[in-house]
Amino acid sequence: MSTRAAAGPSFLSGVEQAPADPILGVSVAFRESTNPNKLNLGVGAYRTEDLKPYVLDVVRQAEKRMIEADYDKEYLPMQGLAEFNEATRKLLLGEGSAAVAESRVATVQSLSGTGSLRVGAAFIGKFMPGAVVYLPNPTWGNHKNIFADAGVEWREYRYYDKATIGLDLDGMIADLKAAPAGSVICLHGCAHNPTGVDPTKEQWAAIADAVESNGLVPFFDVAYQGFASGSLEEDAYAPRLFERRGIEFFCAQSYSKNLGLYAERIGAINAVVNDKETAAKTLSQMNRIARAIYSNPPVHGARIAATVINDPALFARWNEEMGEMAGRIKTVRAMLYDNLCKLNPDKDWSFVTRQIGMFSFTGLNPNQVKHMTEKHAIYMTGDGRISLAGLSQAKCEYLANAIVDSFTVE
Ligand SMILES: Cc1ncc(COP(=O)(O)O)c(C=O)c1O
Repeated sequence: MSTRAAAGPSFLSGVEQAPADPILGVSVAFRESTNPNKLNLGVGAYRTEDLKPYVLDVVRQAEKRMIEADYDKEYLPMQGLAEFNEATRKLLLGEGSAAVAESRVATVQSLSGTGSLRVGAAFIGKFMPGAVVYLPNPTWGNHKNIFADAGVEWREYRYYDKATIGLDLDGMIADLKAAPAGSVICLHGCAHNPTGVDPTKEQWAAIADAVESNGLVPFFDVAYQGFASGSLEEDAYAPRLFERRGIEFFCAQSYSKNLGLYAERIGAINAVVNDKETAAKTLSQMNRIARAIYSNPPVHGARIAATVINDPALFARWNEEMGEMAGRIKTVRAMLYDNLCKLNPDKDWSFVTRQIGMFSFTGLNPNQVKHMTEKHAIYMTGDGRISLAGLSQAKCEYLANAIVDSFTVE
């Protein structure tokens, strides 16, 4: 049978090419480069000292146990795996959490941090009509997409102060105070992406005051718990503070970084509210949203996370591994700082070691970033962010040279 030649333009020919994703596009460009010195500091995934992907030992151990247990592949309920949901809210809020003990947390297992944010965004769109979401300026590249795709209007609040390469607390508080009551305030729980600039404990208290006095609704995005500092407790300081103060909030969690489960898409959306009945109703509506988007979540990552969190020996080993990952990043931060100071002692490079988490916001402008890539084959996002998880000790000097050289470009 012969095939017919296409007759005329496609009914989709008017579809415009979507712009390349600013973060994921960096990896594509990196793969295409043939430069032997190339370095991918774009995407936020942990690499070993040999710059290889890393599967955590506890993940391998959990998977072995899962194979031995010979689980079936039946559908999960809409809200996900019960053991995971129980474990994840406790991990977030701590063993002593009153909200957990009083069943005031609605938890839905979702598709990692992104899917959890998306379910939360859809919930806001449906049940908080007219509420605007305030995002920090700058923020993780996907936040705007996620809220816009859910039909939720977003605006920005001041966060980063270029002059100090630190937090613009006064600007932030002023913007929170100017936001209408009932607005949603997106807060990075720890390791702010892309700046690596987090509020101090005193600053979190001031933020909580402004949220409380203005009747705002925080939406925490916790994508790096345990990965940022190496301590699950320390990295959950902010949501736990808000809970203790009786502030209701949403919180999206991700296990991409702290358990290295990037492709398993495991995370959760939580609503921490004032009473058990509201939590139950909220859960039912979040389930409905999940049902319409993807019906129910994948099971593999949930079983891994639940096995690791619920087994004392695996949990202890996981904490060690997070400490090792966070420690490696701190080591390359310190080495990069030393190299930068050696090459240009006149510039203040202290921001490199002050920032926390996976990223460093270098202050390089888009033209200088272009120079980093074109001349030095260092692939990074156009906003000047570098992922230190993709840097090895052996490459610190090379990177420092490239940064100092690129700062000489206009
Ligand atoms: C701030 C922030 N939120 C959410 C995510 C979500 O990632 P994932 O969907 O892989 O959990 C990331 C990942 O880079 C992030 O940096």
